[in-house]
Amino acid sequence: MASLSSSNSVLFVFCIAVINSLIAASAGNLNQDFQITWGDGRAKILNNGELLTLSLDKASGSGFQSNIEYLFGQIDMQLKLVPGNSAGTVTAYYLSSKGSTWDEIDFEFLGNSTGEPYTLHTNVFSQGKGNREQQFHLWFDPSADFHAYSILWNPQHIVFSVDGTPIRKFKNLESKGVPYPKNQAMRIYSSLWNADDWATRGGLVKTDWSQAPFTASYRNFKANACVWSSGASSCGSNSVNTNSWLSQELDSAGEEKLKWVQKNYMIYNYCTDSKRFPQGYPPECSMA
Ligand SMILES: *[C@@H]1O[C@H](CO)[C@@H](O)[C@H](O)[C@H]1NC(C)=O
Repeated sequence: MASLSSSNSVLFVFCIAVINSLIAASAGNLNQDFQITWGDGRAKILNNGELLTLSLDKASGSGFQSNIEYLFGQIDMQLKLVPGNSAGTVTAYYLSSKGSTWDEIDFEFLGNSTGEPYTLHTNVFSQGKGNREQQFHLWFDPSADFHAYSILWNPQHIVFSVDGTPIRKFKNLESKGVPYPKNQAMRIYSSLWNADDWATRGGLVKTDWSQAPFTASYRNFKANACVWSSGASSCGSNSVNTNSWLSQELDSAGEEKLKWVQKNYMIYNYCTDSKRFPQGYPPECSMA
């Protein structure tokens, strides 16, 4: 009996290991998770699904979207942005629902002249209303290597992180009358496009097409998320640990890092733009 149960437990452990490796493998295959949506061959999934590239030339940009819709999640992706003179290019990486009262959580990377810093632009839309921009410079060159850009979206808050460092938190303040994205499933979208009419100090610097094609790369996508399908949400509750993100709060170390980024790297905050809000700031600004 003893030997039977011990061989069963060996078999059990073996099966768990196989299942885990299958989950890990599928999480790493961009072919399964995404589809190219536009760009006429300018977007490519390479190396058996390990790498995705978007490119932009004078004729067109390109883009992709997730196959799955999510309703809450911890969503991680590594990006390597357009190197060199990227002024005028914009790489957008965001979550969005559909319809006229959509929700959206945005990362947008505004390129710059060689050696000048990218601007990381963030925004949160709830029920079709955005106007919540915060912009940052980064503490590294985001075009030199891959870095992780993450969105934690749970019922309590939305946290934007870069390489695990929180840069922005948008709290659920529904109880104070601020709409919060929580009822509409969102897909992941990304695109690389030309925005030299506005992205570079209001269109002052033009895209240098002699440097085209411009390329941004993606890898190591991972989503611990609730998947929305046929009108129902499933959070894959096979393991308590994998869903800890659903109730995750920033710990005090996370709050400290967030403060550090906001103090040293934030270059624009709608909550301090008094010219823009002469009648008073949006309510979440005083409650954050
Ligand atoms: C480009 O760099 C300049 C100089 O550092 C900076 O003022 C500007 O905000 C940057 N532009 C973008 C689009 O990031």
